[in-house]
Amino acid sequence: MDKRIRNKKLQKKVMSAEQAAELIKNGMTVATSGFTPAGYPKAVPLALAKRVKKSKEKLQISLLTGASVGEELDGALTEEGIIIRRYPYQTNKALRNNINKGEIFYSDIHLSHFAQQIRYGFFGEIDLAIIEAIAIDEEGNIIPSTSIGVSPTFIDRAKAIIVEINNSQPLELEGIHDIYQPKDPPYRYPIPLIKPEDRIGTPYIPTDPKKIQAIVITDTNDQSSPLAPIDKNSEKIASYIVYFLKNEVKHNRLPQNLLPLQSGVGSVANAVLAGLLDSPFKDLDFYSEVIQDSVLDLIDSGKIRIASGTSLTLSEEGQQRFYSNLDKYKKKIILRPQEISNNPEIIRRIGSIAANTAIEVDIYGNVNSTNIMGTKMMNGIGGSGDFTRNAYLSIFVTPSIAKNGDISCVVPMVSHVDHTEHDVQVIVTEQGLADLRGLSPRERAETIIDNCAHPEYKPKLKDYYQRALEKGGHTPHLIKEALSWHKKFLETGCMK
Ligand code: COA
Repeated sequence: MDKRIRNKKLQKKVMSAEQAAELIKNGMTVATSGFTPAGYPKAVPLALAKRVKKSKEKLQISLLTGASVGEELDGALTEEGIIIRRYPYQTNKALRNNINKGEIFYSDIHLSHFAQQIRYGFFGEIDLAIIEAIAIDEEGNIIPSTSIGVSPTFIDRAKAIIVEINNSQPLELEGIHDIYQPKDPPYRYPIPLIKPEDRIGTPYIPTDPKKIQAIVITDTNDQSSPLAPIDKNSEKIASYIVYFLKNEVKHNRLPQNLLPLQSGVGSVANAVLAGLLDSPFKDLDFYSEVIQDSVLDLIDSGKIRIASGTSLTLSEEGQQRFYSNLDKYKKKIILRPQEISNNPEIIRRIGSIAANTAIEVDIYGNVNSTNIMGTKMMNGIGGSGDFTRNAYLSIFVTPSIAKNGDISCVVPMVSHVDHTEHDVQVIVTEQGLADLRGLSPRERAETIIDNCAHPEYKPKLKDYYQRALEKGGHTPHLIKEALSWHKKFLETGCMK
């Protein structure tokens, strides 16, 4: 107890999850730690869901987090109908279903924007913050666990705080965090982070101990999602990227050790990083939001100099590896608030190479990352926009087809736009790589269809483009036909 709760007065606040959950009332705005599901509270949300299930009371809250959180939070609260609003990102199946049914109001927000917009007052007041921590220090400051996300702002703004001290997270994590909160306009100064390894803040989240109303002791690991094994298509995508980067170095557009890398979420993104293992690159810097298993592989192989992110999103095997070699990894990894890991100012300054995953891309280079068939929310934009718009080089990867080939991921016009043609420089599928830099829309269309479309869909896309060309224009389109492109897929019933 003395090691985990070093402030003696606060030791008196220890209570059960059930008692702490009593602090949550109908209509509250509740903000929690957690990012892509790491470092989120587990016991209090489960106790709340259990209570609501038993008592059948009407209790609905707006739920704010860093990004996606585990089943114990998003899943359990959705099942009991507790979430009415949700910001800024999610990946939970049940939650997604209710969002798409219109039962949960979800606003999908650039992750770097969220903390500052809370401070600007755009989301109203925060009634309660629930934060997972490894410890509370002598002054009452919170030392977070495997993610930081928006916790510093939640802790700063919340009227009351519940801390879940997670004994399954080793105390040795202390020192991995670097907490810095910028001031808000008109008083904001440049963020003093010049290189990915710079530490600019404190190893704890400054906390007013008077706001801590409850401390709950827990012992549950982050719920990790297993990564799909790296398939042939992902391997091909990774090899095109490595080839492309080598060529950039050859032409002096990138230094030998590249520039700081950012990688998106999911299995393809993980495979892309894995592709760097067999590349000639070394002394790499990683400045991203999520630290996945492949980053540990790159550290082990001596390829990575430093890795900076906002969460440790490791598989079960990855967690075991990380914890049994914590001293080694701690020297190479820094966790920051997401408004710093994803900060446009820093991304532009360090010259990030951003690689994110698309749901679909169009022949002019617009990208849909969020809405299946333009209507059904998948996850959200996450940090992809933060990095893409501000990167030195912005890359999007996607398999060329989805749903066993029922649909092409290269389409005439994306059914929803997250990243515009102005921000997207390179598109890669297992068919090849389209380098769009400096190309006009007509050149982009030819390059994307030739290099990225699947052979089954190439003739159809070429035919579309040729007929659109006859109509002319800077960005030739047959608007009505472009909008009905997805019809065939709709008819297969996958949207039902
Ligand atoms: N049309 C219809 N469905 C499609 C599709 C398309 N063009 N492309 C993919 N899908 C479906 C897949 O079939 C799959 O469906 P299922 O869940 O029913 O199996 C689903 O979309 C997800 O596709 P998958 O290939 O498994 O995706 P992934 O794990 O590589 O993730 C994104 C891809 C785009 C959903 C994911 O990267 C994401 O959420 N990105 C946005 C956030 C982000 O980029 N964050 C990182 C910033 S650091």
